[in-house]
Amino acid sequence: FNTSEQASIFVATEIAALIKARQQENKPVVLGLATGSTPTRVYAELVKMHKKEGLSFRNVHTFNLDEYYPMQPDSLQSYVRFMGEHLFDHIDIPKQNINIPDGTLPKEKVGDFCRDYEKKIDDLGGIDIQVLGIGRTGHIGFNEPGSTERSLTRLVTLDQVTRIDAASDFFGEENVPRKAITMGVGSIMKARKVFMMAWGEGKAAVIKKAVEGPVTDQIPSSFLQKHPDCLVVLDEASSSELV
Ligand code: F6R
Repeated sequence: FNTSEQASIFVATEIAALIKARQQENKPVVLGLATGSTPTRVYAELVKMHKKEGLSFRNVHTFNLDEYYPMQPDSLQSYVRFMGEHLFDHIDIPKQNINIPDGTLPKEKVGDFCRDYEKKIDDLGGIDIQVLGIGRTGHIGFNEPGSTERSLTRLVTLDQVTRIDAASDFFGEENVPRKAITMGVGSIMKARKVFMMAWGEGKAAVIKKAVEGPVTDQIPSSFLQKHPDCLVVLDEASSSELV
């Protein structure tokens, strides 16, 4: 797309179309959602469609990719707060349909929580559409280099580059949590359709590696080359290094 705005409208329209189609059949929709700067415009479009066109989210279930660990939901940087501000507080999704990894759990409970998270997705029939951004390390979710193709929801250690990129949100790198709970590469690969989005020249180099480079755990997003229905949604700047 020429612009990230056009690209975001495209993704939002695809999501809305699936929601409406499922509503006609009285069936639920399961969405996998990302935070960060990349999807904000998609969420703004969905909110607009809810307010102006009456798009309803009553049949929608959501699973967020990740959350910092530890993290309190009311913290400025929490993904619970982010999702409320950008999407959930403005639409009619039932609260019990919203799932975000829990950054408040004691360490010994994280393993069970992660297994339950995967099971809940599977029990709902799996993710229909997974929305992704991409980090400068090539991460999707917080699956940093070294994450395996079959990895599932788990506690991970954040890459130094990722912590530097988050530093401004936390008023200094030293305040960025060292860990996060993230859905795995394998959890993402199970989604029926994936939209991986990237905007701006700062993502051009990693997009080239993810899309045209070898499939390698050093660039976890490159595993999506093997996904049967993944669309990489780019603006002009982020696609500028592709052959
Ligand atoms: C966020 C997430 C991350 C971001 C990525 C890009 O839930 O899973 O993988 O998508 O770090 O972040 P932005 O969009 O802020 O450039």
